Amino acid sequence: MRPVEYCANATTKLGLLLSLLSKDPGEFRDRLHNFLEVRYERVRLRPNTHSTIGFNEVITLLNESFHWDLAGVLSEKALERVESYLDGLASSACVNGPFAASHNADLELARFCYAVCRVLSPKIVFETGVAYGITTSSVLQALAQNKQGRLYSLDLPPLAPKADSSTGLFVPRKLREMWTLQRGSSRRHLPELLERLGSIDLFIHDSLHTYANMYWEFQAVWPYLRAGGVLIADDVDGHSAFSDFVDLVAPSFSAVIPEKTKRAKFGVLVKRL
Ligand SMILES: C[S@@+](CC[C@H](N)C(=O)[O-])C[C@H]1O[C@@H](n2cnc3c(N)ncnc32)[C@H](O)[C@@H]1O
Repeated sequence: MRPVEYCANATTKLGLLLSLLSKDPGEFRDRLHNFLEVRYERVRLRPNTHSTIGFNEVITLLNESFHWDLAGVLSEKALERVESYLDGLASSACVNGPFAASHNADLELARFCYAVCRVLSPKIVFETGVAYGITTSSVLQALAQNKQGRLYSLDLPPLAPKADSSTGLFVPRKLREMWTLQRGSSRRHLPELLERLGSIDLFIHDSLHTYANMYWEFQAVWPYLRAGGVLIADDVDGHSAFSDFVDLVAPSFSAVIPEKTKRAKFGVLVKRL
């Protein structure tokens, strides 16, 4: 289960990109678009200074506001097991795999996803951005504890040899029957998938963290997120997409939380009933 050891340099990436021109022109356009968007925003946008609250504080506030027992589910044995399993894998050999270690979600974000999933008892969870599958495994573990629900994940793997077969590599076999993984960019596939699902209970954004892509995903998902549903987004601190969206939709709850193992922040909001 250790990630295979290889590293794609710029020449390999360019070769893989150009090979898409004949194999899959749609994916070629998606990747070029992503590449240009990242470069454009790097020059044009500045990091956002959200006011933040700590992990424990947000747990208390959510428990009080929605009569949830997040603290209770955070002490479950099932969570402890999946966390120590993921911790062992994430700190092993992924540095040279197709996903740099920096792609891996912060374990505290993953436990937050687990806890929200436990208290919401969702029928449908949707996430964008899988990499090796840290948030994916945590959500699936929660669904297994709930004994109901399905996770739909959408991921466009990085340009690297064998990246496709490494997507979701950490996800334990026994949890996979509650999981549907679709390959491709969120902008191309999200609308059609949402249309098919009709309504979702929990949305987790962890794909391309540009302003344009995050704001677009939030707007695309919003009409399908049920009242009282939850949206969680990783890396909200690079720009103001999350806070602009909060201003737009006025949710019943929103917060930005600093991550424990990364210099990043994740956001959470709850849709008004
Ligand atoms: C930060 S990683 C996801 C981390 C993951 N949630 C975890 O728990 O470790 C981002 C993932 O999104 C994928 N990705 C990048 N751009 C994308 C896009 N436009 N649509 C879908 N997935 C994308 C990347 O290839 C990568 O697999």
